Amino acid sequence: MSKKAPTEDEKFLFVDKDFLNSPMAQADWAAKKMVWVPSEKHGFEAASLKEERGDEVLVELADNGKKVTVNKDDIQKMNPPKFSKVEDMAELTCLNEASVLHNLRERYFSGLIYTYSGLFCVVVNPYKMLPIYSEKIIDMYKGKKRHEVPPHIYSITDNAYRSMMQDREDQSILCTGESGAGKTENTKKVIQYLAVVASSHKGKKDSSAQQSGSQFAYGELEKQLLQANPILEAFGNAKTIKNDNSSDL
Ligand SMILES: Nc1ncnc2c1ncn2[C@@H]1O[C@H](COP(=O)(O)OP(=O)(O)OP(=O)(O)O)[C@@H](O)[C@H]1O
Ligand SMILES: [Mg+2]
Repeated sequence: MSKKAPTEDEKFLFVDKDFLNSPMAQADWAAKKMVWVPSEKHGFEAASLKEERGDEVLVELADNGKKVTVNKDDIQKMNPPKFSKVEDMAELTCLNEASVLHNLRERYFSGLIYTYSGLFCVVVNPYKMLPIYSEKIIDMYKGKKRHEVPPHIYSITDNAYRSMMQDREDQSILCTGESGAGKTENTKKVIQYLAVVASSHKGKKDSSAQQSGSQFAYGELEKQLLQANPILEAFGNAKTIKNDNSSDL
């Protein structure tokens, strides 16, 4: 069956699942009895269970073939390969620290920075511009349910916006994390998204955005909100060890 190749921006949102669902990968995982063992360098590393000796187990590290004994309580179960790079970590059969970290890392190395964990959306700071904040991507998220589209701050925002419109109830989005994690950047994306959907909801009465040749179809108030950002940041932000543009004063 032929499949449409993903476009440049889609590569940063969709997972390529072809290899993961192969029966060979599944059989290999089952035969090797794969587990996670603590690792000083990587947090956890993959290993194959060889022998159980009371409270201890003998494992073979997947990376270099070394055999080590570890305490039974220190090993964590590994998920079958079909769960690799899952979009919502609540779906993992083995929900443990090692599997959560592994999933976030795998997704991050594939350019996928957003991952759900139940009601939460976990974001890994990419420290580079990704092509996932364009008007085309905004359009992709408009009116879509959470699991119909890949994880994104736009989906969180769209769902909050729809709930506000439907239930006539105030909504809030909490961005939390250490300094430099990306709270301010993601908050700006929330405002950017709301600015576009809110102005398109007004029936595109305001055509100033189109006239000014702006890339996005913002209304007047929405445009002002976004334009106020650089001024607020110029006065309110400072350079810290962890963030060149920190709002954490
Ligand atoms: N989604 C993203 N895409 C590209 N770069 C990002 C993204 N998120 C964060 N960054 C980069 O990381 C830097 C730090 O992010 P940000 O200022 O949002 O952190 P913060 O969580 O608000 O930190 P603080 O608590 O210090 O204010 C940004 O200036 C930007 O360079
Ligand atoms: Mg900040």
